[in-house]
Amino acid sequence: MLGAALAPIRDEVTIATKFGFTPDTFAPNSQLDHIRQVVDASLRNLGTDSIDVLYQHVHDPRVPIEDVVGVMQEFVQAGKVRYLGLSNTDAENIRRAHSVHPISVLQTEYSVFARESEELFPVVDELGIGLVAYSPLARGFLSGAVQPRSAYAADDIRQWLEWWAPEHWDANTAVVGGLTELADEKGISLSQLALAWILAQRDDIVPIPGSRNPRRVAENVAAAEVALSADELARIDVLGRGVRGARATS
Ligand SMILES: NC(=O)c1ccc[n+]([C@@H]2O[C@H](COP(=O)([O-])OP(=O)(O)OC[C@H]3O[C@@H](n4cnc5c(N)ncnc54)[C@H](OP(=O)(O)O)[C@@H]3O)[C@@H](O)[C@H]2O)c1
Repeated sequence: MLGAALAPIRDEVTIATKFGFTPDTFAPNSQLDHIRQVVDASLRNLGTDSIDVLYQHVHDPRVPIEDVVGVMQEFVQAGKVRYLGLSNTDAENIRRAHSVHPISVLQTEYSVFARESEELFPVVDELGIGLVAYSPLARGFLSGAVQPRSAYAADDIRQWLEWWAPEHWDANTAVVGGLTELADEKGISLSQLALAWILAQRDDIVPIPGSRNPRRVAENVAAAEVALSADELARIDVLGRGVRGARATS
C-alpha cells in the first residue's frame, strides 16, 4: 500500500524504515540474514531502488553492533540505502556503530513526559548525529483527549504504560491540566504546545507524532510555526517535573 501511494511522489519524500525484531513476538532480531531479508523485502514492497534512512529498531544483545552496521553498510555501498540510523540503544552502542560507518540519526522516545533520552544528547552532539523524537505526544497523554486505562482496549499498550497506572493518574493529569492552560493562553492546542517544546530543545530534532486523522496531522505540522518564549519553556519544564512513571523501553 505504501509503495503504491509513494510511487508518484517518490522524489518528494524521505523514506525511513527499519529492521530489528521478529514481528510475531516483537523480540529483538538483528541476525545478519534476517537484516538482509528484511531490507530486500522493504525495497521490493516499497517499489523503490533506494531507502533514504535505514534504522536498526532496537539493540539485539546477541549480535555485536559492529556486525549489524557492517551489513547495513553493504546496502549503502550497493546504493540501496543512503543513511543509517539506530533506535532504542545506548551511548556505547552508538559509538561502536559510528566507528564502523557514520550514523546519521538516532530515533528515541522524547517528550515533556519522557526526558530520559537527554542523557544521550552529549554523545549525539559529539558525533554529529540528528535526533528523531518518537511518541512525542507521550502515546496520546499529551493529545488533549487522554482517557483512563479503562477506556482503552485490553490489548492497548496504555494498559501497561506507567503513565496510566492508577497511582500516577492524578499527578499526570494535573501536569496536562497546567500545560493545557498555557496552550489555551497561546491559542494553540496541547499537541502543538508539546511538539513546539520538542522543536525548541534542539536545532536538529524531528518529532514524529502518530495520527490516523488527517486534520490532526495538519494541526501537528502547524506546530512547527509555534514560537515559545524562554518563560513559557521554563513553565513547561517546571510542570514536566510533576510527571510520574517511566517511559516504555521501546
Ligand atoms: N522506535 C520505536 O521504538 C518507536 C516506538 C513507538 C513509536 N514509534 C513511532 O513514533 C511515532 C508516533 O508514536 P505514537 O503513535 O506511539 O505516539 P504519539 O505520537 O506520542 O501519540 C499518538 C496518539 O496521539 C493522538 N494524536 C496525535 N495527534 C493528535 C492531535 N493533534 N490531537 C489529538 N490527538 C492526537 C493519536 O490519536 P489519533 O490516531 O486518533 O489521531 C494517538 O493516539 C510513530 O511513527 C511510531 O512508529 C517508534
